[in-house]
Amino acid sequence: MKMNELWRLRGKASAAVGFCVLGGIVVVCLGYATTVCAQHRMHGQQVKEDRNHPWMNASLSPDERANMVLKEMTLDEKIDLLHGMGMPGWPREVQNPEPELGNGGAGFVLGVPRLGIPMIQMSDAAYGVRSSAENGRYSTALPANVAAAASWDTEAACAYGTVIGKELRAQGYNMTLGGGVNITRDPRNGRTFEYLGEDPVLAGTLVGNLIKCEQAQNVIGDIKHYALNDQESGRNEVDAIIDKRAFRESDLLAFEIGVRIAQPGAVMCSYNSVNGDFACENKYLLTDVLKKDWGFKGFVVSDWGGTHSTVKASAAGLDNEEPLDEFFGAKLKAAVEAGRVSMAELDDHVRRVLRSEFACGIVDHPTQKSVADVEGDLETARKIEEQSAVLLKNNGLLPLTSAAVRSIAIIGPHANEGMMSGGGSAQVDAPGRPSAGWQAQVWFPPSPVKVLEAKFPAASVQFDSGANPASAATLAKNSDVAIVFAYQWTSEGMDLENLSLPVKQDEIIEAVAAANPKTIVVLETGTAVTMPWLDKVAAVLEAWYAGSKGADAVVNILSGDTNPSAKLPMTFPKNEVDLPHPHLIKPGPGQTGEAAVMKTGEAKPTFSVKYDEGLKVGYKYYDAEKKVVLFPFGYGLSYTTFAYSGLKVTAGRETVVSFTVKNTGKRDGAEIAEVYAALPASAGEPPKRLVGWSKVWLKAGESKDVNVSIDEKYLSIFDEAAGGWKLVSGSYAFMVGGSSEELPLSAKADLKQ
Ligand code: BGC
Repeated sequence: MKMNELWRLRGKASAAVGFCVLGGIVVVCLGYATTVCAQHRMHGQQVKEDRNHPWMNASLSPDERANMVLKEMTLDEKIDLLHGMGMPGWPREVQNPEPELGNGGAGFVLGVPRLGIPMIQMSDAAYGVRSSAENGRYSTALPANVAAAASWDTEAACAYGTVIGKELRAQGYNMTLGGGVNITRDPRNGRTFEYLGEDPVLAGTLVGNLIKCEQAQNVIGDIKHYALNDQESGRNEVDAIIDKRAFRESDLLAFEIGVRIAQPGAVMCSYNSVNGDFACENKYLLTDVLKKDWGFKGFVVSDWGGTHSTVKASAAGLDNEEPLDEFFGAKLKAAVEAGRVSMAELDDHVRRVLRSEFACGIVDHPTQKSVADVEGDLETARKIEEQSAVLLKNNGLLPLTSAAVRSIAIIGPHANEGMMSGGGSAQVDAPGRPSAGWQAQVWFPPSPVKVLEAKFPAASVQFDSGANPASAATLAKNSDVAIVFAYQWTSEGMDLENLSLPVKQDEIIEAVAAANPKTIVVLETGTAVTMPWLDKVAAVLEAWYAGSKGADAVVNILSGDTNPSAKLPMTFPKNEVDLPHPHLIKPGPGQTGEAAVMKTGEAKPTFSVKYDEGLKVGYKYYDAEKKVVLFPFGYGLSYTTFAYSGLKVTAGRETVVSFTVKNTGKRDGAEIAEVYAALPASAGEPPKRLVGWSKVWLKAGESKDVNVSIDEKYLSIFDEAAGGWKLVSGSYAFMVGGSSEELPLSAKADLKQ
């Protein structure tokens, strides 16, 4: 079996015979071994993790501790830290002979028990911990990452990371594989829901806060997929081509900010190639930029099956191959013995793994399986979704008041079942259901029907799936209001052909809206969709993949118990023809698979995508090309209104933009006040870029003065010749307002290098 096929077997594991420690005695029990076990077997032996060592002194720095351990290690022990041991559930004969050592996650790395170094137990955990049903555990599904980005809220991002970090540990994991931050170059990318939108400053700031707080729970944090894995089509074969300046100012800037804020223990290199070299053997990416320029001290872990060589990958800066040891096991040992990889280079890889183990607290705080705080985590999931659902249109119908609504038609293929979630390795299992297979569509209960019934007890709530648009229209006609729950499913391993709602949902919405103009559309999508019916409906709420408490949060917004505040972290274009690349570029026949990549013996991409729009990603592209969009970046409505005044710009090392926001409506609410800058013409940049924001909570009628400090880098350009960031002296325009296309305040300031 090929490795790529193998790792797709994830989630197919059956319960294995493992062992655990009861009162210090090793017993055989059903289930998986955990890192809590202070004892584990290794290479056929049971060895006690010896914690009586000078480096167990937590007052020493992670670097000192890592160096002390490194000096004691044999070559075999060093190699053990640099590769995975397969995935639980794989057939024994093709991989790690001791799968019971794994915790049921995506992979694990052996420890060094005699030196007190634990195993690293990794789990996918983009919007919650994966495979919980398979492993007989529980996980909360938070709203999709793109939804969390719509909150523009660093505290919400922190709460998000905290829930995942705690639940990982409760399930016996000490490393997350979450932290996706590829910016949305193409909204058809099937993993858009796992990422944080199209702007590098917004995405980087949020992923940084998310992973910082996740790591604070004593798990190794990870930021991925480094870099330019911006489409799933042919992701293992594609060469993504981009010029360096554009790269540094767009995709890489998101990673740079995330790494600076979170100081993650790990960064995952992606499957694709970048400018001719696969990301996991790309010296520019791994060493020149990540390790040298950004000073990243953690380790680089390959995406699953993303390693293609031993000597080249090691020299480029890959530290850990996952999920197996094809290149970083026996082959790496042989290369060291033959002098093709120096001991210093090997030690650098090992030191980085050890350092992250100490820095992230997994040595000092062994995991201990426990029951998750289910209620508390669900509460967090609900609050985040309430801050993440974006109200895109409201002609005054919302909020729905109980008094005015006596009958509600609720329409949609799954509105009687639950809320949609995103697929692939990010998938979280729904409670009370078997583990989701690869790319299964999973709906999280409770159903919107049930939650609406509970919220409007005096109203008649009737459901129609919409399978027959005419019958749905009849129900809508006979009801006070109609709410259509429309979805679009996306997943890792696929891209969307287009941005239309699937399974004839546009037709259903048209029919329902024609029958009753009081139609509200709730969108459960992982990315932008087109809305040919927009003019005909009364309201649209983009709920994204809304998580375990999605239905409750959405109904709280519809009923007005919660005032929406979210803003789009990505542009919704009118049509795919407006995208920088109207047609997705896909591999040709015979261009996919390991064989195609390895044709020459040295891995080579088989086709390329040229990102010639460069740093003009999302709104920067539509602005520059003067294309009218459906909904702009940064857009979102509230049940109240806000006014902006009094802009002042204080230029300096850190430029400060000050202004006043007033809640001019009758409800309390939050406004995300956005600050954009236009650089001097000589900088050769798109018309404007987001440089900061502030989320302001205001009671009805209240005003607040807001100061937004702008990082100098966000006002700079990347000077490729000088290899660094440079502020271009000249006149800058600062614009402030509630969306990238509604910026009532503007002022100029001269900035000097
Ligand atoms: C995905 C990663 C994931 C890994 C382990 C890969 O297919 O690209 O994001 O962490 O599998 O499941």
